[in-house]
Amino acid sequence: MSSMPTISLREMTLDDAPAMAALEAQVSPEPWSEELFAGELDVNAAERHWLVALENGGDVVGFGGLMFVAVDGDPTEAHLMNIAVDPAHQRKGVATHLLHGLLIDARRRDTNSLTLEVRSDNVAAHVLYRRFGLVDVGTRPGYYQDGADALIMWAHGILGDAYGEHLATLVECPVDGGER
Ligand SMILES: CC(C)(COP(=O)(O)OP(=O)(O)OC[C@H]1O[C@@H](n2cnc3c(N)ncnc32)[C@H](O)[C@@H]1OP(=O)(O)O)[C@@H](O)C(=O)NCCC(=O)NCCS
Repeated sequence: MSSMPTISLREMTLDDAPAMAALEAQVSPEPWSEELFAGELDVNAAERHWLVALENGGDVVGFGGLMFVAVDGDPTEAHLMNIAVDPAHQRKGVATHLLHGLLIDARRRDTNSLTLEVRSDNVAAHVLYRRFGLVDVGTRPGYYQDGADALIMWAHGILGDAYGEHLATLVECPVDGGER
């Protein structure tokens, strides 16, 4: 049996933007540019959180980011902006660690719900998201530039004990970094 890599997370920095854009170009039909990633770091830190994942302390192999939306008088909502893993490093739990790290931090920010759009034919992502308690709530026909439909998913009750306990089952051991 091959040994699983050690996955660690850290905050995205401006220096990561070229690597993230290069990774995007490999996996996305509508890839984000380096400028778009760099622009995310200019946004108020209360409204964004981007993490990058490293394998065995080496190069960046994945990234993920949340946007936080304050809802008057209610807990914050989070929107998954993007998540991707280098094709050579997929199916090793990298995206799971990224989402786990983002959600642990989101709970600290009083976030009770998470939403996202995903291409309706992106089965790998659907399976990943369902593991995190996201459920389908509808579709946006023709949402993407090439005419593909988007599936809208939501998870609620993220601040609850039950969700916290569920999160703890999704990664084998606590990851380093990704902490604020
Ligand atoms: C979706 C994506 C981020 C998953 O990254 P990953 O690091 O490979 O995911 P993980 O290893 O954490 O996988 C978690 C689970 O998701 C499911 N999954 C992931 N890839 C899958 C695939 N190709 N087919 C079926 N299920 C898949 C599996 O249940 C997997 O668990 P398992 O390996 O124990 O069976 C990656 O495939 C990717 O970068 N795709 C292109 C970009 C993209 O589509 N991003 C989503 C935009 S909304």
